Amino acid sequence: MRVMNNTKLLFYEEYEQFYKMTEKSKTFESFCRDAFGQDFSQDGFSDINQINRILRHIPSGKDIHILDIGCGNGKMLGYLQNKTNAYIHGFDYSENAIDTAKRLFQTKADFKQGYIGEIDYPAEQFDLVVSMDTMYFAPDMEKLVQQIIKWLKKDGVLFVGYQEGDVMPKTDNEKTTILAKVFDKSRIQYEVENITQETYELLKKKREAALLHQRDFEKEGNTDWFDMLMLQTDCVTDPYDVFAQRMARYIYIARKEIN
Ligand SMILES: C[S@@+](CC[C@H](N)C(=O)[O-])C[C@H]1O[C@@H](n2cnc3c(N)ncnc32)[C@H](O)[C@@H]1O
Repeated sequence: MRVMNNTKLLFYEEYEQFYKMTEKSKTFESFCRDAFGQDFSQDGFSDINQINRILRHIPSGKDIHILDIGCGNGKMLGYLQNKTNAYIHGFDYSENAIDTAKRLFQTKADFKQGYIGEIDYPAEQFDLVVSMDTMYFAPDMEKLVQQIIKWLKKDGVLFVGYQEGDVMPKTDNEKTTILAKVFDKSRIQYEVENITQETYELLKKKREAALLHQRDFEKEGNTDWFDMLMLQTDCVTDPYDVFAQRMARYIYIARKEIN
């Protein structure tokens, strides 16, 4: 994997290529449906059970606004809008992803190409900020959390699907992740759910679904993406694999409380 000095560009090209592929590949769509229960062009682990947990945190009303940090091509936000009729806002550094999001979702929708740490929104704009498998890209986690708190309305909720590192977490303790430490330092109350086992099962499902579609990936000329899925899920074939033993993933839920 390529790591560049400029954190803006960490995996940038890889994500541009990824979202270009998802735009055209019918096989990837079918793979996502089989692996995650719904096609949101997932690169991470956002399966439908996790996304449905977000719905509990969306208030009812006419003027509800949701922001997704690392929204990809917006399909997950589109699903949430379909269920709640909320306004959807998202940003991602991938131009290909944002072009698709703008094409797919044009009503009560606002998608921007931008970088974590640079992009900004007005204060008290969102009822819910969600970020699935993206906050670990933040060059400065404290700054990002402070921004999110500013962007949230009073009683607004931050919902985060999180693991540390790109794939390899540095810890298996939900209280000692970088994000948890920032919450503590900033005196932000949060709840955390350990979804490590669920994520491990999901990796197995991802591998099965990829193998099911291997021929179709090959026919489409997307063998590289099939190989990537094999690499991503290789750990489930060996119970002694370091990643399988150390992986940890959490859902963090924090509320903006003003006394
Ligand atoms: C692991 S993917 C998760 C995508 C999606 N949220 C999901 O659950 O499938 C990480 C996403 O963050 C975006 N991303 C990575 N680094 C970023 C940065 N510095 N600023 C903005 N977006 C970034 C990528 O383009 C990608 O869409």
